Amino acid sequence: MSVRRVLKMGEPLLAAVAAPVLRFDAELASLVADMNDTMRALNGAGLAAPQIGVSLRVVVFEVNANPRYPHVSPVPYTVLVNPQLTPLGQSQEEGWEGCLSVPGLRGLVPRLKRLRYRGFDEQGRPIDRTVAGFHARVVQHEVDHLDGILYPQRVRDLRNFGFEEALADRMTPMPD
Ligand code: NI
Repeated sequence: MSVRRVLKMGEPLLAAVAAPVLRFDAELASLVADMNDTMRALNGAGLAAPQIGVSLRVVVFEVNANPRYPHVSPVPYTVLVNPQLTPLGQSQEEGWEGCLSVPGLRGLVPRLKRLRYRGFDEQGRPIDRTVAGFHARVVQHEVDHLDGILYPQRVRDLRNFGFEEALADRMTPMPD
């Protein structure tokens, strides 16, 4: 297990479509362990495998109760392999996002309010959840990474994209 280097926006692998996982083996377990170590070391809310240079459809996320983000509900630690998202309704809401691959910046991003997600944990056990709000936002952000999409591509108005310290007085703070 180790903390890996996080790729930054502009590196081609972040723009690639990641491949499905075919085997739930020790190699996958080792990848997930590195992703977890890296996410926690950097205080991230989530991490996708391409962010550490592995073009596979694996994401991890976890949001603990944090006094810095009082309006953000906790999200349980989740490993999601080969995820599939199903929108529940068309309703969207805008919220501020950051990303470990886009350090120091924040942007206002529209996301579906509610969705169902399915996939597998690192041992191949199925996951099937219906979520809303920040949990739904985190999943959409992480799964976008698997399709080569970074959140700045989703910002509708680039006046709502900028440096965290410059936006501080009009932004609700969000974990990366
Ligand atoms: Ni990200």
